[in-house]
Amino acid sequence: PFATVSIRCTVNGEPVEVPEVWVADSLLFVLRDRLGRTAAKDGCGEGECGACLVLLDGEPVLGCLTPALVAEGSSVTTPEAYGDGDEVSGALAAHCGAGCGYCLPGIGLTTRALLARQPEPSEAAIRESLSGHLCRCLPPGHFIDAVNEAAQAVKRRG
Ligand code: FES
Repeated sequence: PFATVSIRCTVNGEPVEVPEVWVADSLLFVLRDRLGRTAAKDGCGEGECGACLVLLDGEPVLGCLTPALVAEGSSVTTPEAYGDGDEVSGALAAHCGAGCGYCLPGIGLTTRALLARQPEPSEAAIRESLSGHLCRCLPPGHFIDAVNEAAQAVKRRG
């Protein structure tokens, strides 16, 4: 009764085919355990913390709650796509580096998606975009400063 299927998608631009995916497998499980892309974190496993966030066709989704089958034919972006090399990574490291770092990969992707939609987000927009992410180490001001700095750095780059 529990069928498996193969899914085909791209992960960070690279075409992948994953055989024997169970219908109940989450996108996070397939990325981490089947494909070795472990930068998206397995935090709460139930949609509360945002650590597992990835982009599906450019839109933020929670990997722990998204069935892997949804990725068929789609473009998946994980935090590995950026390494430590862009403005968002730099700003997060500068303002939020004092924390444990567990939430940062997901917050980085949320921030990149926000800046792609709104290059100069208001504080309210930043707070709204980060509202699905939990950080146990730092108060929200650190993240708002980081997103503002990243927005300015992206703007300077042009
Ligand atoms: Fe998905 Fe916490 S691990 S929201």
